[in-house]
Amino acid sequence: MAHPDRFLLAGVMGWPVMHSRSPMLHNYWFKQHGLAGSYVPLAIRPEHLTAALRGLHPLGFAGVNVTIPHKQEAMKIVNEHDGSLTGTNNDCYGFIHAVRQEHPGWRPDAGPIVVIGAGGGSRAVCYGLAQEGAKEIRLVNRTLARAKAIAGEFRGPIKALPWEQRHDALEGAAMVVNTTSQGMVGNPALDITLDKLPQGALAADIIYIPLETPFLAAARKRGNRTINGLGMLLNQGRPAWKAWFGIEPEVTVELRAMVERTI
Ligand code: ATR
Repeated sequence: MAHPDRFLLAGVMGWPVMHSRSPMLHNYWFKQHGLAGSYVPLAIRPEHLTAALRGLHPLGFAGVNVTIPHKQEAMKIVNEHDGSLTGTNNDCYGFIHAVRQEHPGWRPDAGPIVVIGAGGGSRAVCYGLAQEGAKEIRLVNRTLARAKAIAGEFRGPIKALPWEQRHDALEGAAMVVNTTSQGMVGNPALDITLDKLPQGALAADIIYIPLETPFLAAARKRGNRTINGLGMLLNQGRPAWKAWFGIEPEVTVELRAMVERTI
């Protein structure tokens, strides 16, 4: 076989980074498309982030994903840079496409949507839902000021509510999304009573370790449809690949099963 004319490179920058499932995902796509390339975990200390991002181009990297704790800082570096670095947030795309893929009949305007949490994950989810045409987003957060900041920034359908109202806010909702870290492995469960959530509502979590958080388990047991965070992770990789290699890869059943087996 002739040598390919170049070896494709991409990766994920995090600190720590070895828990990331992204290499498995992207290396599956290299293989699936018969491309010579590799996607590597890059353990980057926060103080080295600027230098690491600047090094991407000379090293021949098509690009990288950035994960905790680099997300916000990376955006700042990209914005302050001379234009040779660009950045996009693919979490929003990942969330919306996962919901559409797993629940094809889903309608963003079917009824009020409750979003719990107001961190980086919430920002992507709220932005996506608002863009898709959600009519009412009830945003509940332990620290009300952070919910108000998102509501103020996006305007439109987002209404910030205090933490005490999280149980009552579920009344009449068509969907509820947990974007807090509660329920993630090592953390206590999200403290919420689902009694007022309508049976027809869709319950989503952006956490994927574990695949079923206590919040999702409680929703499933009372008859609600659920969606875990794995679809968001898998789908956020697609626009990245498209930007780097010009191919929009598929989230196949085989790919999902392969990643699930490692969780
Ligand atoms: P990410 O970028 O992953 O969303 P983050 O910005 O640290 O992470 O946000 C974490 C979210 O989980 C926040 O909404 C946080 O609430 P605060 O804004 O009040 O900090 C929420 N969270 C974390 N621990 C929590 C707890 N014990 N109870 C309720 N919410 C919690």
